[in-house]
Amino acid sequence: MMKGVHYLVTVALLALASTLAFAYDPSPLQDFCVAINNTDSAVFVNGKFCKDPMLATPEDFFFSGLDIPGNTENQLGTAVKNVNVDNLPGLNTLAVALSRVDYAPYGLNPPHIHPRATEFLLVLEGTLLAGFVTSDPDNRLFTKILNPGDVFVFPFGLIHFQINIGKTNAVAFAFFNSQNPGAITIADAIFGSNPPIKPDILAKAFQLDNKVVDYLEKIFHA
Ligand code: GLV
Ligand code: MN
Repeated sequence: MMKGVHYLVTVALLALASTLAFAYDPSPLQDFCVAINNTDSAVFVNGKFCKDPMLATPEDFFFSGLDIPGNTENQLGTAVKNVNVDNLPGLNTLAVALSRVDYAPYGLNPPHIHPRATEFLLVLEGTLLAGFVTSDPDNRLFTKILNPGDVFVFPFGLIHFQINIGKTNAVAFAFFNSQNPGAITIADAIFGSNPPIKPDILAKAFQLDNKVVDYLEKIFHA
């Protein structure tokens, strides 16, 4: 009898664990749910409202332009073009999105997090050094040099980055298990928040002189 109870508890816990393990974006309850923007309501849903399926068209599932390189003439030397539910409404409830990332030589996609997704990066051109850092207390750094045809996974919610270590441009595509993976760029969030975090807080957290924090906050608010 006791054995039977243990068995049932184990099965129930496993079922719960697997539900949680797959509980990222919700599973669709219909073939599709093409998003419509709900601009005049104060009510929010977890996702977007659906268009009447009979009014859906192939355009709702289509996006073009990922063949065009992004402009990498900026401070970091990278450009990210996102395709998610905001510009491809047919992705609503489907739990996928992607980005094209262009890197000038030595271009950096700076340390960032996706709060709602794991990322799969596929390199098409050039050579990247990619890395991610595990959570506390170990903070282990995992890095890998990636060439065309290589993929690397950045696990859910971990800080990660890529830098082009080659002498030519590089191109990669990132795939996400969310219709809206989101991004938190660490330096922007910390030193560029609105309103700014008090410099003495950041000075203490990062073991920096207040003047250095003032300087960084100025740069990230420019
Ligand atoms: C790469 O890490 C990306 O999020 O585009
Ligand atoms: Mn990323």
